Amino acid sequence: MRILVTGGSGSLAREIYQQAMEQELEIYSYARTELDITDPQQLQAVFAEIKPEAVINCAAYTNVDKAEADPEACMAVNTRGALNAAELCARYRAFLVQVSTDYVFGDTPGPHGTAEDPAPVNVYGRSKLLAEEGCRRLCRRLLIVRTGTLFGRSGRNIVRTVADLCRPYSRFYISKQEARAAVPPTLRFISDNLIQPTPAAALAQALLTMLTRILEVEAQDPHAALALMGSYHYTGTPAVSSADFARAIIDAAFAAGRLTLRPPVQNILNADYAAAACRPRDLRLDNSKTARDFNLQPPDWRPVLQQMFKRGQ
Ligand SMILES: NC(=O)c1ccc[n+]([C@@H]2O[C@H](COP(=O)([O-])OP(=O)(O)OC[C@H]3O[C@@H](n4cnc5c(N)ncnc54)[C@H](OP(=O)(O)O)[C@@H]3O)[C@@H](O)[C@H]2O)c1
Repeated sequence: MRILVTGGSGSLAREIYQQAMEQELEIYSYARTELDITDPQQLQAVFAEIKPEAVINCAAYTNVDKAEADPEACMAVNTRGALNAAELCARYRAFLVQVSTDYVFGDTPGPHGTAEDPAPVNVYGRSKLLAEEGCRRLCRRLLIVRTGTLFGRSGRNIVRTVADLCRPYSRFYISKQEARAAVPPTLRFISDNLIQPTPAAALAQALLTMLTRILEVEAQDPHAALALMGSYHYTGTPAVSSADFARAIIDAAFAAGRLTLRPPVQNILNADYAAAACRPRDLRLDNSKTARDFNLQPPDWRPVLQQMFKRGQ
Protein backbone atom coordinates (compact mmCIF):
# COMPACT_ATOMS: atom_id res chain seq x y z
CA MET A 1 0.00 0.00 0.00
CA ARG A 2 1.43 3.39 -1.02
CA ILE A 3 0.61 5.99 1.62
CA LEU A 4 1.14 9.73 1.32
CA VAL A 5 1.39 11.70 4.56
CA THR A 6 1.09 15.50 4.58
CA GLY A 7 2.40 17.79 7.32
CA GLY A 8 5.37 15.43 7.59
CA SER A 9 7.35 17.35 10.21
CA GLY A 10 4.41 17.45 12.64
CA SER A 11 4.21 15.29 15.71
CA LEU A 12 1.56 12.83 14.47
CA ALA A 13 3.02 12.53 10.97
CA ARG A 14 6.45 11.60 12.36
CA GLU A 15 4.94 8.80 14.43
CA ILE A 16 2.97 7.52 11.45
CA TYR A 17 6.07 7.53 9.29
CA GLN A 18 8.15 5.65 11.84
CA GLN A 19 5.50 3.01 12.48
CA ALA A 20 4.72 2.55 8.79
CA MET A 21 8.43 1.99 8.13
CA GLU A 22 8.54 -0.61 10.91
CA GLN A 23 5.55 -2.35 9.30
CA GLU A 24 7.31 -2.18 5.93
CA LEU A 25 4.53 -0.14 4.34
CA GLU A 26 5.43 2.06 1.38
CA ILE A 27 5.15 5.53 2.85
CA TYR A 28 5.94 9.00 1.52
CA SER A 29 5.90 11.79 4.04
CA TYR A 30 6.23 15.43 2.99
CA ALA A 31 6.89 18.40 5.26
CA ARG A 32 5.26 21.75 4.48
CA THR A 33 8.48 22.98 2.86
CA GLU A 34 8.22 20.12 0.34
CA LEU A 35 4.45 19.99 -0.08
CA ASP A 36 2.19 22.91 0.80
CA ILE A 37 -1.38 21.58 0.80
CA THR A 38 -2.73 25.06 0.08
CA ASP A 39 -1.04 24.88 -3.32
CA PRO A 40 -3.21 22.67 -5.58
CA GLN A 41 -0.52 22.46 -8.30
CA GLN A 42 2.10 21.19 -5.88
CA LEU A 43 -0.33 18.67 -4.49
CA GLN A 44 -1.34 17.52 -7.96
CA ALA A 45 2.32 17.01 -8.92
CA VAL A 46 2.93 14.82 -5.87
CA PHE A 47 -0.21 12.76 -6.54
CA ALA A 48 0.84 12.30 -10.16
CA GLU A 49 4.29 11.14 -9.10
CA ILE A 50 3.37 8.85 -6.19
CA LYS A 51 -0.12 7.75 -7.17
CA PRO A 52 -0.98 7.12 -3.52
CA GLU A 53 -3.51 4.47 -2.61
CA ALA A 54 -4.14 6.27 0.66
CA VAL A 55 -3.49 9.76 2.02
CA ILE A 56 -3.27 10.66 5.70
CA ASN A 57 -3.76 14.39 6.02
CA CYS A 58 -1.81 15.49 9.08
CA ALA A 59 -1.08 18.99 7.77
CA ALA A 60 -2.79 21.55 9.94
CA TYR A 61 -2.69 25.03 11.39
CA THR A 62 -2.77 23.98 15.05
CA ASN A 63 -2.20 27.24 16.96
CA VAL A 64 -5.71 27.64 18.38
CA ASP A 65 -5.15 31.13 19.81
CA LYS A 66 -3.30 32.55 16.81
CA ALA A 67 -6.14 31.31 14.60
CA GLU A 68 -8.50 33.85 16.23
CA ALA A 69 -6.33 36.73 15.04
CA ASP A 70 -5.74 35.26 11.59
CA PRO A 71 -8.74 33.11 10.64
CA GLU A 72 -7.82 33.33 6.95
CA ALA A 73 -4.48 31.62 7.50
CA CYS A 74 -6.11 28.91 9.59
CA MET A 75 -8.94 28.27 7.10
CA ALA A 76 -6.47 28.22 4.19
CA VAL A 77 -4.65 25.21 5.63
CA ASN A 78 -7.28 23.42 7.69
CA THR A 79 -10.23 23.82 5.35
CA ARG A 80 -9.10 24.62 1.81
CA GLY A 81 -5.92 22.54 2.12
CA ALA A 82 -7.93 19.52 3.28
CA LEU A 83 -10.39 20.03 0.42
CA ASN A 84 -7.53 20.18 -2.08
CA ALA A 85 -6.36 16.80 -0.77
CA ALA A 86 -9.91 15.38 -0.82
CA GLU A 87 -10.47 16.48 -4.41
CA LEU A 88 -7.29 14.77 -5.56
CA CYS A 89 -8.07 11.64 -3.53
CA ALA A 90 -11.38 11.37 -5.37
CA ARG A 91 -9.66 11.88 -8.72
CA TYR A 92 -6.85 9.40 -8.04
CA ARG A 93 -9.11 6.91 -6.20
CA ALA A 94 -6.99 7.24 -3.08
CA PHE A 95 -8.50 6.55 0.33
CA LEU A 96 -8.45 9.66 2.54
CA VAL A 97 -7.82 9.75 6.28
CA GLN A 98 -8.65 13.22 7.57
CA VAL A 99 -7.44 13.86 11.12
CA SER A 100 -9.84 16.08 13.02
CA THR A 101 -10.36 17.40 16.50
CA ASP A 102 -12.44 17.36 19.68
CA TYR A 103 -12.67 21.16 19.18
CA VAL A 104 -15.47 20.63 16.65
CA PHE A 105 -17.69 20.29 19.73
CA GLY A 106 -18.88 23.18 21.86
CA ASP A 107 -20.25 23.59 25.35
CA THR A 108 -22.44 20.48 25.54
CA PRO A 109 -21.58 17.81 28.09
CA GLY A 110 -19.32 14.95 26.95
CA PRO A 111 -18.47 12.30 26.12
CA HIS A 112 -19.38 13.46 22.62
CA GLY A 113 -20.47 10.68 20.28
CA THR A 114 -19.87 10.58 16.54
CA ALA A 115 -23.61 11.17 15.96
CA GLU A 116 -23.67 14.40 18.00
CA ASP A 117 -24.01 17.62 16.01
CA PRO A 118 -20.79 19.60 16.29
CA ALA A 119 -20.94 23.27 17.35
CA PRO A 120 -17.41 24.69 17.47
CA VAL A 121 -16.73 27.76 19.59
CA ASN A 122 -13.47 28.89 18.02
CA VAL A 123 -11.93 29.48 14.58
CA TYR A 124 -9.73 26.37 14.72
CA GLY A 125 -12.74 24.15 15.51
CA ARG A 126 -14.80 25.75 12.73
CA SER A 127 -11.98 25.33 10.21
CA LYS A 128 -11.70 21.61 11.01
CA LEU A 129 -15.48 21.11 10.92
CA LEU A 130 -15.70 22.78 7.51
CA ALA A 131 -12.93 20.43 6.37
CA GLU A 132 -14.89 17.41 7.59
CA GLU A 133 -18.01 18.55 5.74
CA GLY A 134 -16.09 19.32 2.55
CA CYS A 135 -14.19 16.01 2.63
CA ARG A 136 -17.48 14.11 3.02
CA ARG A 137 -18.89 15.93 -0.01
CA LEU A 138 -15.85 15.32 -2.20
CA CYS A 139 -14.60 11.92 -1.19
CA ARG A 140 -16.65 8.80 -0.58
CA ARG A 141 -13.76 6.59 0.55
CA LEU A 142 -13.00 8.46 3.73
CA LEU A 143 -12.18 8.12 7.41
CA ILE A 144 -12.49 11.16 9.66
CA VAL A 145 -10.76 10.51 12.96
CA ARG A 146 -11.23 13.07 15.72
CA THR A 147 -8.71 13.19 18.51
CA GLY A 148 -7.59 15.56 21.28
CA THR A 149 -4.57 16.80 23.29
CA LEU A 150 -1.91 14.93 21.35
CA PHE A 151 1.49 14.51 22.94
CA GLY A 152 4.58 12.72 21.75
CA ARG A 153 8.27 12.81 21.16
CA SER A 154 8.24 15.81 18.84
CA GLY A 155 6.35 18.99 18.19
CA ARG A 156 4.76 21.50 20.51
CA ASN A 157 2.31 20.07 23.01
CA ILE A 158 1.25 20.49 26.63
CA VAL A 159 3.92 18.04 27.85
CA ARG A 160 6.64 20.13 26.20
CA THR A 161 5.08 23.35 27.52
CA VAL A 162 5.06 22.10 31.12
CA ALA A 163 8.56 20.62 30.76
CA ASP A 164 9.82 23.99 29.42
CA LEU A 165 8.16 25.91 32.25
CA CYS A 166 9.86 23.56 34.73
CA ARG A 167 13.27 23.79 33.05
CA PRO A 168 14.74 26.18 35.68
CA TYR A 169 14.05 23.41 38.21
CA SER A 170 15.69 20.70 36.18
CA ARG A 171 18.38 18.81 38.12
CA PHE A 172 20.84 20.06 35.50
CA TYR A 173 20.29 23.67 36.52
CA ILE A 174 19.57 23.65 40.24
CA SER A 175 20.81 21.64 43.21
CA LYS A 176 18.61 20.30 46.04
CA GLN A 177 20.02 22.98 48.35
CA GLU A 178 19.28 25.80 45.92
CA ALA A 179 15.84 24.33 45.28
CA ARG A 180 14.92 24.68 48.97
CA ALA A 181 15.48 28.44 48.76
CA ALA A 182 13.97 28.84 45.32
CA VAL A 183 10.61 30.41 44.64
CA PRO A 184 8.78 27.94 42.42
CA PRO A 185 7.30 29.29 39.21
CA THR A 186 3.58 29.84 39.05
CA LEU A 187 2.14 27.30 36.69
CA ARG A 188 -1.51 28.05 36.07
CA PHE A 189 -3.75 25.55 34.34
CA ILE A 190 -7.48 25.16 33.88
CA SER A 191 -9.01 22.91 36.55
CA ASP A 192 -12.69 22.83 35.57
CA ASN A 193 -12.31 21.22 32.15
CA LEU A 194 -11.98 17.64 30.96
CA ILE A 195 -9.46 16.61 28.33
CA GLN A 196 -8.28 13.22 27.13
CA PRO A 197 -4.52 13.29 26.57
CA THR A 198 -3.68 11.09 23.60
CA PRO A 199 -0.22 9.65 22.88
CA ALA A 200 0.59 10.51 19.25
CA ALA A 201 2.20 7.08 18.86
CA ALA A 202 -1.03 5.32 19.86
CA LEU A 203 -3.06 7.42 17.44
CA ALA A 204 -0.57 6.73 14.64
CA GLN A 205 -0.88 3.00 15.31
CA ALA A 206 -4.67 3.23 15.40
CA LEU A 207 -4.85 5.15 12.10
CA LEU A 208 -2.65 2.59 10.33
CA THR A 209 -4.71 -0.27 11.79
CA MET A 210 -8.00 1.31 10.69
CA LEU A 211 -6.71 2.11 7.22
CA THR A 212 -5.19 -1.32 6.64
CA ARG A 213 -8.32 -3.06 7.89
CA ILE A 214 -10.67 -1.05 5.65
CA LEU A 215 -8.57 -1.68 2.55
CA GLU A 216 -8.33 -5.40 3.37
CA VAL A 217 -12.10 -5.67 3.80
CA GLU A 218 -12.65 -3.60 0.65
CA ALA A 219 -10.52 -5.99 -1.40
CA GLN A 220 -12.86 -8.83 -0.37
CA ASP A 221 -16.17 -7.05 -0.10
CA PRO A 222 -16.49 -3.35 -1.10
CA HIS A 223 -19.96 -3.14 0.37
CA ALA A 224 -18.82 -4.34 3.81
CA ALA A 225 -15.94 -1.83 3.71
CA LEU A 226 -18.37 1.06 3.18
CA ALA A 227 -19.90 0.30 6.59
CA LEU A 228 -16.47 0.88 8.19
CA MET A 229 -15.95 4.31 6.61
CA GLY A 230 -17.07 7.60 8.14
CA SER A 231 -16.35 9.37 11.43
CA TYR A 232 -14.56 7.91 14.43
CA HIS A 233 -13.17 9.14 17.73
CA TYR A 234 -9.86 8.10 19.23
CA THR A 235 -8.57 9.70 22.43
CA GLY A 236 -6.65 8.61 25.50
CA THR A 237 -7.90 7.59 28.92
CA PRO A 238 -8.54 8.59 31.70
CA ALA A 239 -10.06 12.04 31.21
CA VAL A 240 -8.49 14.72 33.41
CA SER A 241 -8.48 18.49 33.80
CA SER A 242 -5.61 20.39 32.21
CA ALA A 243 -4.37 21.23 35.73
CA ASP A 244 -4.31 17.56 36.76
CA PHE A 245 -2.59 16.62 33.53
CA ALA A 246 0.07 19.29 34.21
CA ARG A 247 0.54 17.78 37.71
CA ALA A 248 0.89 14.31 36.19
CA ILE A 249 3.56 15.64 33.80
CA ILE A 250 5.48 17.20 36.69
CA ASP A 251 5.15 14.02 38.76
CA ALA A 252 6.45 11.92 35.86
CA ALA A 253 9.42 14.27 35.34
CA PHE A 254 10.16 14.28 39.08
CA ALA A 255 9.87 10.49 39.40
CA ALA A 256 12.29 10.08 36.49
CA GLY A 257 14.79 12.26 38.39
CA ARG A 258 14.60 15.13 35.93
CA LEU A 259 13.45 17.81 38.40
CA THR A 260 14.95 18.93 41.70
CA LEU A 261 11.64 20.26 42.92
CA ARG A 262 8.04 19.80 41.96
CA PRO A 263 6.61 23.22 41.05
CA PRO A 264 3.03 23.58 42.28
CA VAL A 265 0.22 23.98 39.78
CA GLN A 266 -2.33 26.66 40.49
CA ASN A 267 -5.91 26.00 39.42
CA ILE A 268 -7.69 28.55 37.27
CA LEU A 269 -11.19 28.43 35.91
CA ASN A 270 -11.84 28.09 32.20
CA ALA A 271 -13.80 31.37 32.32
CA ASP A 272 -10.78 33.17 33.82
CA TYR A 273 -8.26 31.77 31.35
CA ALA A 274 -7.01 34.76 29.39
CA ALA A 275 -6.56 33.38 25.90
CA ALA A 276 -7.72 34.57 22.51
CA ALA A 277 -9.73 31.42 21.75
CA CYS A 278 -12.69 30.11 23.74
CA ARG A 279 -12.24 26.54 24.85
CA PRO A 280 -15.05 24.08 25.49
CA ARG A 281 -14.96 22.71 29.03
CA ASP A 282 -15.87 19.11 28.32
CA LEU A 283 -13.76 17.72 25.49
CA ARG A 284 -14.36 14.04 26.21
CA LEU A 285 -15.05 11.95 23.14
CA ASP A 286 -16.97 8.69 23.11
CA ASN A 287 -14.62 6.14 21.55
CA SER A 288 -17.06 3.22 21.56
CA LYS A 289 -17.61 3.12 17.78
CA THR A 290 -13.85 2.77 17.22
CA ALA A 291 -13.71 -0.03 19.80
CA ARG A 292 -16.71 -1.76 18.24
CA ASP A 293 -15.67 -1.54 14.56
CA PHE A 294 -11.88 -1.86 14.87
CA ASN A 295 -11.38 -3.42 18.29
CA LEU A 296 -9.19 -0.46 19.29
CA GLN A 297 -9.34 0.51 22.94
CA PRO A 298 -8.50 4.04 24.16
CA PRO A 299 -4.82 4.18 25.14
CA ASP A 300 -3.88 4.86 28.76
CA TRP A 301 -1.67 7.97 28.63
CA ARG A 302 -0.13 7.47 32.10
CA PRO A 303 2.52 4.81 31.33
CA VAL A 304 3.35 6.58 28.06
CA LEU A 305 4.04 9.82 29.94
CA GLN A 306 6.26 8.03 32.45
CA GLN A 307 8.20 6.30 29.69
CA MET A 308 8.74 9.62 27.88
CA PHE A 309 10.61 11.07 30.86
CA LYS A 310 12.43 7.84 31.68
CA ARG A 311 13.79 7.71 28.16
CA GLY A 312 14.62 11.42 28.32
CA GLN A 313 12.36 12.54 25.48
N1 LIG B 1 -2.02 18.61 18.66
C1 LIG B 1 -3.19 18.32 19.20
O1 LIG B 1 -3.37 18.38 20.42
C2 LIG B 1 -4.34 17.93 18.31
C3 LIG B 1 -5.59 17.70 18.90
C4 LIG B 1 -6.65 17.31 18.09
C5 LIG B 1 -6.45 17.15 16.73
N2 LIG B 1 -5.23 17.40 16.18
C6 LIG B 1 -5.09 17.23 14.74
O2 LIG B 1 -4.10 16.23 14.53
C7 LIG B 1 -3.43 16.48 13.30
C8 LIG B 1 -1.91 16.43 13.53
O3 LIG B 1 -1.59 17.42 14.47
P1 LIG B 1 -0.14 17.52 15.15
O4 LIG B 1 -0.33 17.53 16.60
O5 LIG B 1 0.80 16.56 14.54
O6 LIG B 1 0.20 18.99 14.72
P2 LIG B 1 1.61 19.67 14.42
O7 LIG B 1 2.68 19.00 15.18
O8 LIG B 1 1.37 21.14 14.59
O9 LIG B 1 1.80 19.32 12.87
C9 LIG B 1 1.09 19.95 11.86
C10 LIG B 1 1.99 20.00 10.67
O10 LIG B 1 1.30 20.59 9.58
C11 LIG B 1 2.23 21.37 8.87
N3 LIG B 1 1.57 22.36 8.02
C12 LIG B 1 1.09 23.58 8.37
N4 LIG B 1 0.62 24.21 7.27
C13 LIG B 1 0.82 23.38 6.21
C14 LIG B 1 0.58 23.46 4.83
N5 LIG B 1 0.04 24.56 4.28
N6 LIG B 1 0.94 22.43 4.03
C15 LIG B 1 1.52 21.32 4.56
N7 LIG B 1 1.79 21.18 5.87
C16 LIG B 1 1.43 22.20 6.68
C17 LIG B 1 3.08 22.01 9.93
O11 LIG B 1 4.30 22.43 9.36
P3 LIG B 1 5.12 23.67 10.00
O12 LIG B 1 5.45 23.24 11.39
O13 LIG B 1 6.29 23.76 9.10
O14 LIG B 1 4.20 24.83 9.96
C18 LIG B 1 3.25 20.86 10.91
O15 LIG B 1 4.41 20.10 10.60
C19 LIG B 1 -3.96 17.81 12.80
O16 LIG B 1 -4.99 17.57 11.87
C20 LIG B 1 -4.56 18.45 14.03
O17 LIG B 1 -5.61 19.35 13.70
C21 LIG B 1 -4.17 17.78 16.95
